[in-house]
Amino acid sequence: LGHAIHFFDEVDSTQRIAARLAYEGAPEGTLVVAEEQKAGRGRLDRKWFSPKGTGIWMSLILRPAISPQRAPQLTLLAAVAVSQAIQEVTGLVPDIKWPNDILLDGRKCVGILTELQADPDRVHSVIIGIGINVNQTIEQFPEDIRAIATSLAIEKGRPVKRAPLIQEILFRLERLYEQYLAHGFRPIKLLWEGYAVSIGKPVTARTLNGVIHGIARGITDDGLLILEDEQKNIHYIHSADIQF
Ligand code: BTN
Repeated sequence: LGHAIHFFDEVDSTQRIAARLAYEGAPEGTLVVAEEQKAGRGRLDRKWFSPKGTGIWMSLILRPAISPQRAPQLTLLAAVAVSQAIQEVTGLVPDIKWPNDILLDGRKCVGILTELQADPDRVHSVIIGIGINVNQTIEQFPEDIRAIATSLAIEKGRPVKRAPLIQEILFRLERLYEQYLAHGFRPIKLLWEGYAVSIGKPVTARTLNGVIHGIARGITDDGLLILEDEQKNIHYIHSADIQF
């Protein structure tokens, strides 16, 4: 992975560029990296703050032969790869909040956004977007996210080099992806659960269909969140915003 790297000083969003390259037939493993994004995108139609030179803003094209229902598994796989890489390079131990926020000390330092080009029965490409706050100081975050965001440098107490971290992420992604293609999601799920913070805890899930309070019981083999509500009904959550 990452044998073809497209590097940009400034883009609107690496997701958009990677999606266009994928549509034009770019091979699996193609990576788009930018110094700065003017219109970085987050999950649930949010903006992703991506200032110049302080973070890692990148999107990777994968072309797994899987059905679209299995795509969430790749988001979780990416979260494990990034967590492993952060741990390896910085010594910091991250937590994963379902599905794919990576937290340090309870604050978000990584967001992952997975987008698909697919038919109902077949995936053409998966674009995995990874945004990592690496060297921001707390003052450099917009005021409205200062209380919930952090960067690797803030947590580590000194600047962190970006290139070795990107390399380590690609290395980990490639290993996990090969394992996934050969043995399925099961081994990845176990690793993911090792980093997960929300499991066994009371959480509030804001979904498109409403708000559910309950206990996070785990994830399914497809990567959906299993939530048990106060009436002991089980909900399988595809997409939601989770609060503790
Ligand atoms: C989230 O937590 O909401 C996901 C954030 C994903 C941000 C990354 S940065 C690189 C890629 N390009 C984008 O526009 N978004 C993703």
